Amino acid sequence: MQSKGMPRASVPTSTQILQFKYHNRNRHNLHNQNLNHKASADSSKFAMWFSKSNFEVKGKTAIIVGASQGLGVELAKQLYLQNCTVILVARTTKKLEFHADQISQLTVPSTHTAKATYFTCDAASYGNCEELWKNVAAGGYEPDIIMCCAGSSVPKLFADLTAADLQLGMDVNYKTAINVVHAGFKHMMAVNHQIRPQEWTKRNVVLFSSVVGLFPFIGYAQYGPMKSAVDSLSLILRQELKPYNFRVSCVYPGNFLSEGYEEEQKTKPAITREIEGSSPAISGEECASIVLDQLQKGYDSITTDFIGWVLSCSVLGTRPRQWGLIQVVVGLIFSIIEPIVSWTIQRDISKSVK
Ligand SMILES: NC(=O)c1ccc[n+]([C@@H]2O[C@H](COP(=O)([O-])OP(=O)(O)OC[C@H]3O[C@@H](n4cnc5c(N)ncnc54)[C@H](OP(=O)(O)O)[C@@H]3O)[C@@H](O)[C@H]2O)c1
Repeated sequence: MQSKGMPRASVPTSTQILQFKYHNRNRHNLHNQNLNHKASADSSKFAMWFSKSNFEVKGKTAIIVGASQGLGVELAKQLYLQNCTVILVARTTKKLEFHADQISQLTVPSTHTAKATYFTCDAASYGNCEELWKNVAAGGYEPDIIMCCAGSSVPKLFADLTAADLQLGMDVNYKTAINVVHAGFKHMMAVNHQIRPQEWTKRNVVLFSSVVGLFPFIGYAQYGPMKSAVDSLSLILRQELKPYNFRVSCVYPGNFLSEGYEEEQKTKPAITREIEGSSPAISGEECASIVLDQLQKGYDSITTDFIGWVLSCSVLGTRPRQWGLIQVVVGLIFSIIEPIVSWTIQRDISKSVK
């Protein structure tokens, strides 16, 4: 924790360096909204060229794991309103029932055919995921879109983490994603065994990592490595499932408001807050709109704010690009100034340890 009254060096703090995300966030959000409005205004022109058919949802079915609250619910609402059947999955039946019911009651045109339903499943258990896919098929559903949105963080300093925190981090953030996709793929292989891979129905897997998975920092030892694992999984699945007509996308959200986010604030160390900055998180609704918009534009590495995009430039590797040439330039600049960023972060951390 930084001492009050301690003179600040003239070198910018890690907060100042990283906080530009927040100074830019509102501008970026406004920019996004303006872009959205402009896109609506010019929809006939832009939709044809840029957005069309990269992520068809109308008449499709989406299974969303982690949809009893937070982003999963927002995604389900927005997909349903676009006439996509949504299957909500999580562990808490009451919440699932409530949200599936609320979604079913949304005002939709008379031509609307999509449904909202739910299945209770602890996706950290592989057996439960196998059961889930059987039940989904028995219900007459064949998901075209598989969203692995379950995840949560217990931000604490390393010394304060418990064994249970560590186990939860692995279960909820990584096992839910790999179990759902692997059990689902095995299920599809059994169903489609007579069909050649390239003739399979087109499907989309959307994994949810985090900016912390790309740029890990103090306080996220229980969470960041698992989100890096989800990122890594997306790279492998993109290669391995493409011959089976799968498109694999990975989302790296920055902070957005949700029940999970509220929970995180209770344990988040002061130094972690300091590095993150203090401006408010975007709404879950806005985050869901950004994700769907980016998928429609054909992007497979999706960030939800400006700093996320900048940080993604520092780890381009084999990840799909978004404004690739500019990302290379930003990545180069980042790699030049990165030692200063790391130095200031480390200096702030050292000051916080008394
Ligand atoms: N909020 C942020 O600022 C932020 C930032 C970066 C990344 N993210 C990521 O974005 C995703 C959504 O975040 P969020 O804030 O909306 O999350 P959230 O509010 O904490 O909701 C998490 C959801 O996952 C479900 N879940 C947890 N464990 C599960 C399990 N074992 N099996 C099935 N479902 C399970 C929860 O439902 P039950 O408890 O009922 O099972 C809940 O519906 C997560 O992957 C998160 O890590 C969030």
